[in-house]
Amino acid sequence: MSTANRTPIVAGNWKMNLNREEAVALARTVASGSKGMQSVERVIFPAAAHLDAVRYSLAEVGTGGVQLGAQNTWHEPNGAFTGEISNEMIKDLGCGWLLTGHSERRHVVGEADDLVNAKTRAGLEAGLHVVLCIGETLEQREAGQTDAVNERQLRAGLEGVPRDALSRLVIAYEPVWAIGTGKTATPDDAQNAHHAVRKVLEALFGQQPATDMRVLYGGSVKPNNAADLFAQPDIDGGLIGGASLKADSFLAICQAVL
Ligand code: 13P
Repeated sequence: MSTANRTPIVAGNWKMNLNREEAVALARTVASGSKGMQSVERVIFPAAAHLDAVRYSLAEVGTGGVQLGAQNTWHEPNGAFTGEISNEMIKDLGCGWLLTGHSERRHVVGEADDLVNAKTRAGLEAGLHVVLCIGETLEQREAGQTDAVNERQLRAGLEGVPRDALSRLVIAYEPVWAIGTGKTATPDDAQNAHHAVRKVLEALFGQQPATDMRVLYGGSVKPNNAADLFAQPDIDGGLIGGASLKADSFLAICQAVL
């Protein structure tokens, strides 16, 4: 019988928002406001252009346990990849975390499953914690394909991932129709999707790794709906977009997981 012992995570994906001054100020307020919250891992994902400033600013005032991540990298270590940044570069900037497969990378930029897989593997090989994002579109949901889409994205995204990297792998279920729309999956619907995700992880890696792995929910998580979502047995925290851009709401969401 496997038992769950998962430390929750609340992560803020700042996307392409905030100027440098605003990013530094937000990071500092989050760090000072959450320093007592050791039982939840707190990670912020500023825009790449601000990682350096945020990192040095937090080093000055104290991180309060807040960790830093990058929203995207390229999977090759170096070379002629104009406009891209490598995993070693973001590690140099103090990042321990990386997002892959975010819906905006898949659906706006056009990243396919094989590129998501290459980025996921490269991030893990570089020693980073990787949050692999998956989720269905509205059309797919209405066609009853939620679990099938999640399973396909998981199987493709995780192909070739070595077992010894699994402790650094986190999954984020973010239904595309819930991102930035104010529409959230009901706690029951989210729990059902998360449970199915964990079953796929079990089929891929076995029961204990699937039990140990954190699966986050993302998509219009706000202070007023976070506690109900996080109370579900297979939801281990959240990946927060809009509500992570204000310290008060991000901290309230962190509080909701405790
Ligand atoms: P919102 O919280 O703004 O819906 O964004 C979710 C998201 O995409 C986090 O990665």
